Amino acid sequence: MKLTFIGTGYVGLVSGVCFSEIGNDVTCLDKDLAKIGRLNGGEVPIYEPGLQELIAKNKALGRLRFTGDLSSSIRSAEAIFICVGTPSLPSGEANLAFIEQAARDIALEMNGYKIIATKSTVPVGTNDKIRQIVAQLTQHPFDVVSIPEFLREGSAIADTLHPDRIIIGSDSPDAAAKLAELHRPLTERIMLTDVRSAEMIKYASNAFLATKISFINEIANICEKVGADVTDVAKGMGHDRRIGPSFLQAGIGYGGSCFPKDTNALIQIAGNVDYEFKLLKSVVEVNQGQRFNIMTKLRHSLGELGGKRIGIWGLAFKPDTDDVRESPALDIIGALLAEGAEVQAYDPVATANFRAIFGQADEVRWCEDALDAARSADALCLLTDWPAFKALALPEVQAVMRQNVLIDGRNVYTSEQVNEAELRYYSVGRPHVGGLSPSASEPVAGYER
Ligand code: UGA
Repeated sequence: MKLTFIGTGYVGLVSGVCFSEIGNDVTCLDKDLAKIGRLNGGEVPIYEPGLQELIAKNKALGRLRFTGDLSSSIRSAEAIFICVGTPSLPSGEANLAFIEQAARDIALEMNGYKIIATKSTVPVGTNDKIRQIVAQLTQHPFDVVSIPEFLREGSAIADTLHPDRIIIGSDSPDAAAKLAELHRPLTERIMLTDVRSAEMIKYASNAFLATKISFINEIANICEKVGADVTDVAKGMGHDRRIGPSFLQAGIGYGGSCFPKDTNALIQIAGNVDYEFKLLKSVVEVNQGQRFNIMTKLRHSLGELGGKRIGIWGLAFKPDTDDVRESPALDIIGALLAEGAEVQAYDPVATANFRAIFGQADEVRWCEDALDAARSADALCLLTDWPAFKALALPEVQAVMRQNVLIDGRNVYTSEQVNEAELRYYSVGRPHVGGLSPSASEPVAGYER
């Protein structure tokens, strides 16, 4: 099928590349001509394992191209996927300016029947608005379909090529059937529904996953006080098939460009129809507090933080990505600097992006490797669970530190690893894992937010 993807962000770029991989003729369109130039030069603007290779392969096969040429991209396509950003407005609501512009662009260039499919995450009712905008500007026939995207950064290609499900929301059986056919090589689990339900499925899914994370983080906080181990609790819960084991990893909370934005947007969507989404409001509040438990643990172990040297491992909001949007590291480093601590930070790939958002922050020393960030540190805080951090030998890390505090914000280390060194080890909801202190006799319990 001839497809055009508008927007070469995470969703548009990965989806476009994957649909070319399964044999479609794909055009990726973006207004950012510098980005198009970089893509055409073989450079990939995001860090996503495997993406560069797939782009090179499908470009060489002639079924993938990048362009800023709106007119030919729309005219040549049978289906056009809107994959532009929907950033948060100060109110929490999604900003639909890019979506509306894409709808106008399509309407003014289309030359016959088109399927207009929305992959961007948009509030309920947005696709109806897209339909109105297009209908006002063209006489050509078209159908609007909501086809939400569920890929995760870091595993975006596998998620796109092997999705758990495809949701197609449309009031046109023909358009839905064509898109179902397009997705059939990826999965048989294709669900057809109406447009508004498809829009809601996306928000409800992200909100539910965020709820699982905040739930297990609260359980972890209670585990610290009662002397239970949250990893065992999560495992025991996860064996119940009604609960399932995924997204029950306690830590310093979720970040990224999706959960924070989409939870706030859903609270706002509910508010717009006079419904107070109390549960989701608590999920957001718990998540925001969770990252600051790192500060509490630092104070518990070191006392006043002014003048203390703190090493930070991990700036990305999760491993296998260079994305730092809404990363807990932004708040934690900000709080450390505000308390007068000296910060030295390392991330395998995200440092440049972090500095672009955080500011140059001359008081932070940006390190070349993990050991460099540990050098002469009073405490180390692991904020992102990059596999490379888990593989480090903790006695070697301790040997270069000034004091011996390790705060593991992602529960990466096992008892065995921790006990190889003589560290004062803090994790999230695992008070007995090991290390010198806190111990059962001096439980982490009693932390105050
Ligand atoms: C998320 C969803 O998982 C995707 O299905 C969705 O398509 C995407 O948002 C989106 O709406 O575009 P993503 O933000 O890439 O994907 O990352 P996740 O793997 O879901 O992780 C989000 C955050 O939750 C990370 O900060 C991660 O560290 C945290 N997390 C995840 C936990 O703290 N505990 C867990 O058990 C799982």
